[in-house]
Amino acid sequence: MYKFASRALHVLQPEDAHVLTIRLLKAGLGPVSSLDTPELAVSVPFDGGTLRFRNCIGLAAGFDKNADAPLAMLKAGFGFVECGTVTPLAQAGNPKPRLFRLTEDQAVINRMGFNNEGLDVFAEHMERHLPKRGKGVIGLNIGANKDATDRMADYVTGLKRLWGLGDYFTVNISSPNTPGLRALQGKSYLDDLLGQIAETRAALKAATGRNMPVFLKIAPDLTPAEIADTVEPTLKHGLDGLIVSNTTLSRDGLTSRFRDEAGGMSGAPLFELSTTALRIAREASGGKLTLIGAGGVDSGARAYAKIRAGASLVQLYSAMVYHGPGLADAIRRDLVVRLKADGFRSVTEAVGTGL
Ligand SMILES: Cc1cc2nc3c(=O)[nH]c(=O)nc-3n(C[C@H](O)[C@H](O)[C@H](O)COP(=O)(O)O)c2cc1C
Repeated sequence: MYKFASRALHVLQPEDAHVLTIRLLKAGLGPVSSLDTPELAVSVPFDGGTLRFRNCIGLAAGFDKNADAPLAMLKAGFGFVECGTVTPLAQAGNPKPRLFRLTEDQAVINRMGFNNEGLDVFAEHMERHLPKRGKGVIGLNIGANKDATDRMADYVTGLKRLWGLGDYFTVNISSPNTPGLRALQGKSYLDDLLGQIAETRAALKAATGRNMPVFLKIAPDLTPAEIADTVEPTLKHGLDGLIVSNTTLSRDGLTSRFRDEAGGMSGAPLFELSTTALRIAREASGGKLTLIGAGGVDSGARAYAKIRAGASLVQLYSAMVYHGPGLADAIRRDLVVRLKADGFRSVTEAVGTGL
């Protein structure tokens, strides 16, 4: 049935198809998985608790920017869903068209520009979802408004407004579609930003008696030295890990007619670049940070490669555009077979074994 629906959706403009998909999911028309994969469960300890993922395959940020339907994607078989990026104030994003399918390349280019309904709407949605999420984990991905005079303050605002309304935070400083945002990845900015985040987190923990893990999401276009420069302040300020990676500005190897559109590129051609960045982050952090591998995952083989390169958890988005939400189960099934074939009893045993 999905194949039929997928063909119908691909007749639409990509963004119209996306809006319709979210509507269908909200209406309860998504697939329901009954697959149980205990081998893929992952526990991430953090200061003040343990985050338990029933499986290691997650839906990456950007699919559900306003936290409209995370429960539907958990039902479809994802172990976790990251909602956002949400900015303090609602914003329209860039003019359309701003989302392109590069079918021949199995890639996507987007220059959405953080279109979202803002923190208040997002928080209201999360208040409704949270009690019903069961064993699914929901991440909250926060960003800065394009017109903010103090971008760092926007992250602090996001942390405060959404504290306790999800299971972890992601600080997204790696979108290429908000001019200047990626500059926050620079060494001195990042030290300052993560210092402010750590301070806010400590104050919120003291006030509420509850802590939340915080991850930093980085670009795949950093040099090895720049990746090390993101690892250092992440460790120094006691953040929990990195998501490697966001979309790339590279256009290497693309053949589709949309290849010269501006924006971030994701999907199959991002796999090598983002996996190399992941490996570098693992080496630079010496296993002291939890790493989430994202970029071009479209199969069990590619999810396994991320895990062997150091990822404890994996995320995907673009491949779902081409394969539908049933992909989460297909990947999980294949991953279990691969782990068994290599003699691993659980996915955690395999983390970093390819280095
Ligand atoms: C249309 C689209 C919108 C995205 N929006 C966001 C976003 O708002 N915040 C974010 O952190 N990442 C965003 N991403 C990046 C994805 O979360 C992911 O890091 C990237 O696409 C690589 O994974 P993939 O190759 O499986 O898509 C977006 C990606 C796409 C394709």
